[in-house]
Amino acid sequence: MSEPAQLHRLLPHPGAVSPAAAAAHLVGREVLILNMVASADGHTTVAGRSRGIRGGQGDRELFHALRAHADAILVGTGTLRAERYGDWIRDDRRLAMRAAAGLTQPPVGATLARLGDVPWDIPLFTSPGRMIVYSGVPVDVPETVTADVEVVVLDRADPAAAIADLRARGLRSILCEGGARLNGVLLSAGLVDELQLVIAPQVVGGTDALTVVQGTLEDDLALTLLDAYESEDALLLRYRIARDV
Ligand SMILES: NC(=O)c1ccc[n+]([C@@H]2O[C@H](COP(=O)([O-])OP(=O)(O)OC[C@H]3O[C@@H](n4cnc5c(N)ncnc54)[C@H](OP(=O)(O)O)[C@@H]3O)[C@@H](O)[C@H]2O)c1
Repeated sequence: MSEPAQLHRLLPHPGAVSPAAAAAHLVGREVLILNMVASADGHTTVAGRSRGIRGGQGDRELFHALRAHADAILVGTGTLRAERYGDWIRDDRRLAMRAAAGLTQPPVGATLARLGDVPWDIPLFTSPGRMIVYSGVPVDVPETVTADVEVVVLDRADPAAAIADLRARGLRSILCEGGARLNGVLLSAGLVDELQLVIAPQVVGGTDALTVVQGTLEDDLALTLLDAYESEDALLLRYRIARDV
């Protein structure tokens, strides 16, 4: 695999930065960060999948670098179903990136499924990884699943309890990769610290309704820009989310 493109940092200090350096802020920090890519006209899917939103190589590199630096990766079942994810880190370069950051264990995957409706047939569940399913009901894991899956039953798959459970396991940095409904649930519960938003240099139009966040928030949330990168005309923006407005 070729060497990753450098990101062009705009803020806080202009300069060339590797994707690994741009994701290193996750290491050792207690943080929950959402990572999403949207077109310039605000869509996060084309024909039901994020593939049509083209954030370019910088987005791809940062997406995987964030995975390589996170303790846990949280993804909604709608996204797992649509994207059919496999193992979180699949190539040697990013495994080496994780090792270089001092992280000795692979990231732990997690999802929320109030009624235990999990897409067990996706490659993730036959990968060697570890996965925690937070459910509101007891769930039987099918025999076809060979991944190391643990089901944790919580009242209504309460997101705050799920995050507390991850933290109690020593998993401090949690990367949430969406989708919009899970983002809404986490934001309305006041659980999110940061938003990594990639704006793809593209107008897609169409009728896909999903945006970065779906669901009612009690108040709008103010954002503070922490860092900004440019890569192939995409903007990669990391914001701090105000918890008390
Ligand atoms: N452009 C991007 O960056 C990006 C990123 C991710 C995903 N996507 C796209 O977004 C789409 C999927 O997004 P989505 O919003 O439909 O689904 P989603 O957010 O992936 O899944 C919804 C999740 O929220 C949980 N949930 C909902 N309400 C809850 C509550 N009150 N308490 C606890 N858990 C709750 C659901 O569990 P239950 O089973 O209990 O409902 C489920 O795990 C796909 O098309 C995907 O391609 C795009």
